[in-house]
Amino acid sequence: MLSSRFLFFFLLSLIPFSSSNGIQDAFHGCISSILAPHTFFTPNDTAFIPLLHSRAINLRFTTPSTPKPDLIFTPLNETHIQTAVICAKKLGIHLRFRSGGHDYEGISYTSVMDPPFVVIDLSKMRAVNVDVAGNSVWAEVGATIGEVYYWVAEKSKTLGVPAGICTSLGVGGLVTGGGYGAMMRKYGIAADNALDAKIINANGEILDRKSMGEDVFWAIRGGGGGSFGAIVSWKLKLVPVPATVTVFDVTRTLEQNATKTLYKWQQVGNEIDQDLFARVIIKATDGTTNRTITTTYNALFLGGANQLLEITNRKFPELGLAKVDCIEMSWIESVLFIAGYPRNTPPSVLLTGKPTFLNSFKAKSDFVKTPISETGLEGIWKILFEKESPFMIWNPYGGKMSEIPESSIPFPHRKGILFKIQYVTTWTDSGSETESDHVGVIQKLYKYMGQYVSMNPREAYVNYRDLDLGMNDKNGRNTSFEKASLWGRRYFKDNFKRLVTIKTEFDPNNFFSHEQSIPILG
Ligand SMILES: Cc1cc2nc3c(=O)[nH]c(=O)nc-3n(C[C@H](O)[C@H](O)[C@H](O)COP(=O)(O)OP(=O)(O)OC[C@H]3O[C@@H](n4cnc5c(N)ncnc54)[C@H](O)[C@@H]3O)c2cc1C
Ligand SMILES: *[C@@H]1O[C@H](CO)[C@@H](O)[C@H](O)[C@H]1NC(C)=O
Ligand SMILES: *[C@@H]1O[C@H](CO)[C@@H](O)[C@H](O)[C@H]1NC(C)=O
Ligand SMILES: *[C@@H]1O[C@H](CO)[C@@H](O)[C@H](O)[C@H]1NC(C)=O
Ligand SMILES: *[C@@H]1O[C@H](CO)[C@@H](O)[C@H](O)[C@H]1NC(C)=O
Ligand SMILES: *[C@@H]1O[C@H](CO)[C@@H](O)[C@H](O)[C@H]1NC(C)=O
Repeated sequence: MLSSRFLFFFLLSLIPFSSSNGIQDAFHGCISSILAPHTFFTPNDTAFIPLLHSRAINLRFTTPSTPKPDLIFTPLNETHIQTAVICAKKLGIHLRFRSGGHDYEGISYTSVMDPPFVVIDLSKMRAVNVDVAGNSVWAEVGATIGEVYYWVAEKSKTLGVPAGICTSLGVGGLVTGGGYGAMMRKYGIAADNALDAKIINANGEILDRKSMGEDVFWAIRGGGGGSFGAIVSWKLKLVPVPATVTVFDVTRTLEQNATKTLYKWQQVGNEIDQDLFARVIIKATDGTTNRTITTTYNALFLGGANQLLEITNRKFPELGLAKVDCIEMSWIESVLFIAGYPRNTPPSVLLTGKPTFLNSFKAKSDFVKTPISETGLEGIWKILFEKESPFMIWNPYGGKMSEIPESSIPFPHRKGILFKIQYVTTWTDSGSETESDHVGVIQKLYKYMGQYVSMNPREAYVNYRDLDLGMNDKNGRNTSFEKASLWGRRYFKDNFKRLVTIKTEFDPNNFFSHEQSIPILG
């Protein structure tokens, strides 16, 4: 075992790629027997940059100085992916896999540590097969989660999928890193509802749940993308949804008791009826006279408006929810509402796969276990009032999330979590503020929040990847367990150990690696 790994590194170091042409020619030569037209793109092709940027959701990584792949290959079927893996392994070429391209640090299409590299863009693999009788759906990784929702709703008005809020997310990265959405308090996250998967290992073999075994199937349900293999498709469980659901969007400013109301939300949000998911979007805005904080309660209730009002009046009267705020609709319409589409946008918009959010951004996450006092909240407002203000999204936990044991899948944020915080700062190149101003304010806020959030570890959501938390050594091939634990324990708590053990067994040469891939035991 040890000697074969050594031999692998030794061979890698011998590969004479002096130029990208070398990689392009070698890879082209190796895959030529299966190559289909318009699936192989080099930087000389006029289609190269448009393709590279077509699913690069964080514009921070679309600048001229961003490290770019030497080529992009777009498989049309699983044989193409298998061949790409076999050839890359043989030639010592480093691969990055991209499904929806929403990675917060862009690591599915750029690399700060590994050039040269090749992007395997899976956007052409987007078949979705709904099995209503079997209560399940098989979705290829390049499908957006919105496409999955659309095809499920086409088949049934009373079945849904508990997955992401943003509809342009790729099935590949979303499910593999967890995948929460507005039904998580009732049904858990997408990875909790995964029934099977197809994965290609470093030998180019295609495996399903049975042939990969329960350890690997455990690891890929939340252990994060790009560590174990190339996922080809996921089978997800369909869950019942009422024919009529209710949504609302109500905003309270500081002048409307936002602070007191949010204080109460922290106490009830996680224990209220699990059919209700009311997240809060918090930002500083210029009010009519003074700058103020707006707290917008953006919610889905799996039931009718009267029943919802009965619950909020009893458990959360401070919100002052009124009948006029409540909009009844079908589940698929609620998907569009929560994702932020204008009212009456037809569901077919989901088939365009277009992202609704396209910015340069930096984000971080936290998990809260005890309510933050009103004084604590006022400290947050102070930081939000600074110029390059980030916004926050507070997302309630509890319900089903508290019932699932921490070690059930790698995603460990369960019992005791009241809510998750996401901090986001966005900017445009033309704005007067610089990237470092924005990143500076978000870091200041994150530092201030340390006293109010989970500790030892300070937990973070792997699908909100944050390279500030730490990175693998070059090629991720020699990172110590202790060093990787700095970020690994935050994303996975004690599940990190098991992930490392499974990784070491399943991908002993660390073929699937990136800045924060699960390392192998040295
Ligand atoms: C605007 C926006 C909204 C979001 N909203 C939500 C939300 O509502 N809920 C939620 O849970 N998360 C949300 N996220 C986070 C999102 O879940 C992660 O960014 C997720 O990894 C995206 O998956 P992707 O396929 O689009 O990304 P990609 O960038 O394609 O992939 C992400 C990671 O997975 C790897 N990967 C991709 N495909 C494969 C594959 N087939 N096999 C193996 N590895 C693969 C990549 O190499 C990369 O490491 C949001 C992100 C953004 C930018
Ligand atoms: C994938 O396409 C190639 C042609 O490019 C073909 O040879 C191969 O059989 C196909 N594989 C599958 C599983 O359809
Ligand atoms: C691509 O363009 C570069 C210069 O722009 C040139 O040197 C190289 O030969 C070209 N490669 C191919 C395969 O055409
Ligand atoms: C704010 O709260 C006070 C008492 O706590 C109440 O009298 C007042 O009506 C509230 N204001 C609004 C706009 O809800
Ligand atoms: C605006 O701020 C001033 C000073 O802090 C305060 O006196 C005033 O009441 C505020 N106006 C409104 C409409 O809240
Ligand atoms: C791995 O790291 C150790 C300790 O930092 C170092 O001694 C060793 O040379 C490294 N090995 C490789 C292959 O880089």
